Amino acid sequence: MAFFFKSREIRKGKMLDFNFRNPTNILFGRGKIATINEHISPGSRVLILYGGGSVRANGTLAQATAALAGYTLFEFSGIEPNPSYETLMKAVELVQDESIDFLLAVGGGSVIDGTKFVAAAALFEGEPWSILLDRGASIERALPMGTVLTLPATGSEMNRGAVVTRRALQAKLVFHSSHVFPQFSVLDPEKTYSLPLKQISNGVVDAYVHVMEQYLTYPVNAMVQDRFAEGLLLTLLEVGPRALADPEDYDLRANLMWSATMGLNGLIGAGVPQDWATHMIGHELTAAHGLDHAQTLAIILPSLLTVCQEDKWAKLLQYAERVWGLKGGGEETRIEAAIALTRKFFEQMRIKTHLSDYGIGEESIPRLLQQLETHGMVALGERQSVTLDVSKKILEMSL
Ligand code: NZQ
Ligand code: ZN
Repeated sequence: MAFFFKSREIRKGKMLDFNFRNPTNILFGRGKIATINEHISPGSRVLILYGGGSVRANGTLAQATAALAGYTLFEFSGIEPNPSYETLMKAVELVQDESIDFLLAVGGGSVIDGTKFVAAAALFEGEPWSILLDRGASIERALPMGTVLTLPATGSEMNRGAVVTRRALQAKLVFHSSHVFPQFSVLDPEKTYSLPLKQISNGVVDAYVHVMEQYLTYPVNAMVQDRFAEGLLLTLLEVGPRALADPEDYDLRANLMWSATMGLNGLIGAGVPQDWATHMIGHELTAAHGLDHAQTLAIILPSLLTVCQEDKWAKLLQYAERVWGLKGGGEETRIEAAIALTRKFFEQMRIKTHLSDYGIGEESIPRLLQQLETHGMVALGERQSVTLDVSKKILEMSL
């Protein structure tokens, strides 16, 4: 018990020092795709990268191509959800063979992340997989890139991170580098109209959890970041279910899109401790069982908040009050209710929140823990207190 009280009592700290720079030019609104030529040097050899064909079917690819009349254009298709190293290396080869000098990603987070990897790997000296092994630290340059976003979720369109999976190793790893910030990103809410509702559910939950990873830690008197984060959470709570009910409401899609971008463009995370344990455990679930990224988050976050509640006590109370309006009753009761409401929201967004809902049982846990260990994920969270034992508890509670 002494340990618990000690954790709970760390309630105040100082805002952490930070440098903040985000160079991505956001082109927001209907029809903005037609203006991308203003942001790419004339005469460039441009490679357009996309996924399995949704952007061909909904006309976005044709619009991008039309906007780039006069450039020498190439195409690379087939970047999968949870983009694979194996596929991306084929794009790297094309970039090198054709002396490409600008990359345009047209799609969701997977296409954008994949393009970031291609941008760095094409100019990388050495074995490109090491980009993932050292989390991007050895990247010294990258090809310039821009994006046309078609799925609001990851924030990749305005950040310096990417996640790549090497199928052969069942490894889903993250890298970060300032060299892979997109130079521009088109955010046209109408581009989301063709999304299957499942991807809207995924996007809302992913964005919500991004905010939680940067907000629900311990307080450091970061009033601006906290209020921004709470504003984003409240917006997602309001807009998410309505975006499912009314798929072609421009205002809902516009607010969803901007919330998702703002949730992971560095702004709310500057100067505050960050968690990311839910994501790291979730990545192992995707690598081992193929679950969608957002499904893994909806499973892990409620359990993680429960297991780690002593460390997160003060912020959980703040979250309960400011996001869920829970003021009365004992502290434990409020925290329990806030976590239960979070789970209910994910379920309301039609994402199931238990491993068993996906046919994953207790027998999978040792393998997931083994993967976490192999990938060095043995001291996660804002206090590095999510050891393998804690991850085990979180996974057991997620059954
Ligand atoms: O491949 P296509 O045919 O384009 O279809 C895609 C894909 O099947 C489809 N889609 C996208 N836009 C569409 C559309 N279908 C119809 N109409 C449209 N407008 O949606 C499916 C899923 O796309 P995907 O890009 O995989 O989804 P999402 O944007 O959720 O990206 C998930 C990936 O991003 C990573 C995840 O780990 C995962 O690999 N993340 C990246 C982050 C970052 N870079 O900062 C942070 C996140 O935490 C996340 O981890
Ligand atoms: Zn995410």
